[in-house]
Amino acid sequence: MPTRIYVTRRIPQPGLDLLTEAGFEVEVSPHDRVLTRKELLDAVKNRDGLLPLLTDAIDTELLDAASGVKIVANYAVGFNNIDIPEATKRGIAVTNTPGVLTDATADTAWALLMATARRIVESDRFTREGKFEAWAPMLFLGADIAGRTLGIIGPGRIGTAMAERAKGFRMRILYSDTKPSPEFEKTFDAEYRELPDLLRESDFVSIHVPLTEQTKHLISAKELSMMKPHAVLINTARGPVIDEAALVEALREKRIGGAGLDVYEEEPKLCPGLVELDNAILLPHIGSATIETRTKMAQIAATNLVEFFKGNRPPNLVNPDVWKD
Ligand code: GLV
Ligand code: GLV
Repeated sequence: MPTRIYVTRRIPQPGLDLLTEAGFEVEVSPHDRVLTRKELLDAVKNRDGLLPLLTDAIDTELLDAASGVKIVANYAVGFNNIDIPEATKRGIAVTNTPGVLTDATADTAWALLMATARRIVESDRFTREGKFEAWAPMLFLGADIAGRTLGIIGPGRIGTAMAERAKGFRMRILYSDTKPSPEFEKTFDAEYRELPDLLRESDFVSIHVPLTEQTKHLISAKELSMMKPHAVLINTARGPVIDEAALVEALREKRIGGAGLDVYEEEPKLCPGLVELDNAILLPHIGSATIETRTKMAQIAATNLVEFFKGNRPPNLVNPDVWKD
């Protein structure tokens, strides 16, 4: 019997081609939307492998319904949508798509940083509304970027790519992590700080940590109160790393300069009050959204499935405990 794979939403064709070329029986959700819980629970029955998105919760109930599934190849670098301990307990392999989306995501973070500092979205709105009457000395004054201090929370792949961009702008780089990284310090002339000190000293703060129990609400009211009044907070990681209600308060009261967000605590819902704020730029989770990157993510997710069913260790296994060589 052929290996049966379910893909929860259409992804770029080169990934699907790899699956069919491997001889798998592939079914792709016919809907161009997130599946309802019931649809998802029904669709995963009698499958050997799944290719879900970060919008699909792969939890105990889902894994119960997907009793034949041996591998979950997430179409994302983040895998907080999957209950990893539960999958591991059942011996189900979980894979992600690291590496290929590093630059695209850092570009998004950088674009948010620049757009927030220079009030690009507000200015665009103003121009379209026919309000531009003449060059003016005080029109849309923003903040300098070059030479200022960037605080990177989480100097992983994407945090490192952010540091590369910042170097081109002659920024001073601070970083915080669970432990110092001599390599990162040497490469970027960066300095380690505990989170409170990073927040106190930075003009721009960019978040690049995965969402875990430890990073949930890493930035809440207390941390926001440590930031400089002009400082800008960028989040392209996962929404729940920030207490969004506390952020809305801080932005509303202008206790920080601004925020550039690509992710939200309860996507796609936005915290009440957020959309009314001019000092926030809000993107619909497009961090990795380039044609090239999304294509590579599809190929990587597919390759993890193909290798697994050939009996090989999938290249991007996130729960190595399930693998016995
Ligand atoms: C996107 O947010 C991802 O984790 O790939
Ligand atoms: C994610 O890919 C990271 O390591 O930043």
